Amino acid sequence: TIERTFSIVKPDAVKRNLIGAIYQRIEAAGLQIVAAKMLHLTKEQAQGFYAEHEGKPFYDGLVEFMTSGPVTVQVLEGENAITRYRELMGKTNPEEAACGTLRADFAESMRFNSVHGSDSPASAEREIAYFFAGDEICPRTL
Ligand code: CMP
Repeated sequence: TIERTFSIVKPDAVKRNLIGAIYQRIEAAGLQIVAAKMLHLTKEQAQGFYAEHEGKPFYDGLVEFMTSGPVTVQVLEGENAITRYRELMGKTNPEEAACGTLRADFAESMRFNSVHGSDSPASAEREIAYFFAGDEICPRTL
């Protein structure tokens, strides 16, 4: 099935001029970027986006990091996009991420881990709607 997933290029990667390198890997993996924009998240936006982690020891640091500079947010479309993008990212902890994954190659630590991707169809739907209006998503017609 063709799925959509939600992706963030996080502040650490934007700061290091890695947007293009990450987009290149997404496209080379056969996923289509069907929506994209750059944002500097407010504290409220970051807190709301990561609401499921509220109360965890890393939550405040995560919100601080995610508001520390601009990010890009994307909707990716393709066959099994959710799982395929998670495989492309590798594990949350870059030390455990497989060779050749985005996090193995670009992430600096568990917190500064360069990319986010939805972990399920339900999160993908929620996360896409959190950042994109329906008319901002532009699937290919050819
Ligand atoms: P992400 O996929 O965006 O989802 C939640 C984020 O919290 C995760 O990537 C990491 O950036 C961060 N995170 C998860 N676990 C930890 C942890 N143990 N320490 C610090 N940051 C974490």
